[in-house]
Amino acid sequence: MSPSIDSAKCVLVTGATSGIGRALALAIAALPSRPRVVGVGRRKDRLEGLKEAGIEAEEFDIDTDRTSTQLFVETMVQKYPDIDTIILGAGIQREFNFKKEVDLEKIATEMHVNYMAVVTMISLFMPHLLAKAATGQPCIIAPITSGLAYVSAVWVPNYSASKAALHSFCNSLRVQLEDTGISVIEISPPLVESELHDVEGTTEALSKFWVPLGVYTKDTIEGLQRGDNVVCSGMAKMAYEKFEQPKEQIISDMAKRTINRK
Ligand SMILES: NC(=O)c1ccc[n+]([C@@H]2O[C@H](COP(=O)([O-])OP(=O)(O)OC[C@H]3O[C@@H](n4cnc5c(N)ncnc54)[C@H](OP(=O)(O)O)[C@@H]3O)[C@@H](O)[C@H]2O)c1
Repeated sequence: MSPSIDSAKCVLVTGATSGIGRALALAIAALPSRPRVVGVGRRKDRLEGLKEAGIEAEEFDIDTDRTSTQLFVETMVQKYPDIDTIILGAGIQREFNFKKEVDLEKIATEMHVNYMAVVTMISLFMPHLLAKAATGQPCIIAPITSGLAYVSAVWVPNYSASKAALHSFCNSLRVQLEDTGISVIEISPPLVESELHDVEGTTEALSKFWVPLGVYTKDTIEGLQRGDNVVCSGMAKMAYEKFEQPKEQIISDMAKRTINRK
């Protein structure tokens, strides 16, 4: 089990300008514990909207180099020294058909935004979180993956791979950080109402099947309050329990035999 989100004092959320990230940021800010919430994204009008809703808002494009990310993280830690929880929700989804010519630039960008940028940010926040956790404040790293991390969707092959990579990374990081006071919570949504599919023009078709954002947000906040290690619902939960949960004991056992080798 992980600490409850109720113990968080300051929560930074990337992808907070729309969809799941925005809904979680607003719901967390409204918890009885009233944590400070810092929402991150690119769209200025949306960031203004967050400020009007009483949330701190910071502009940042995560699709950038390591030096810029380092500067961003240093600025955040200086400005919000109480940050103890990072929810990494910024993500994109693109369709690719390998029977036709695929744009490898788009593949690289999708993998960077959904995986490398998340890993980079986690690594750069780590010294701050380790120091914070050493004071006794529970800390949480919560990347947002997807049910498609467990069952690939063939029309979004690179997206599925990027989320599978992030899921695997979460499994390892959780065990590596076991004795630090930092918990790794994987937030794994099913198909949820958002703007994610607008770019590919599939929103109308998918809206017949998606979970309404309000329902999803309520379920997710409950999971975060319980302190679930993996917060998932609907189809994502079914796939996680069938295919992924059985691996956890093996990952943990294997770590006990090998983790001290380096
Ligand atoms: N909706 C679903 O069905 C579903 C299912 C499973 C997993 N997920 C995951 O849930 C997360 C949230 O997605 P969503 O469905 O809420 O989609 P969304 O409404 O499109 O939100 C995506 C967020 O990511 C931010 N973002 C994208 N590229 C960025 C960049 N380069 N730099 C900074 N921020 C960037 C966007 O902000 P700006 O455009 O303002 O930068 C926006 O706030 C994603 O990781 C997604 O993969 C969604």
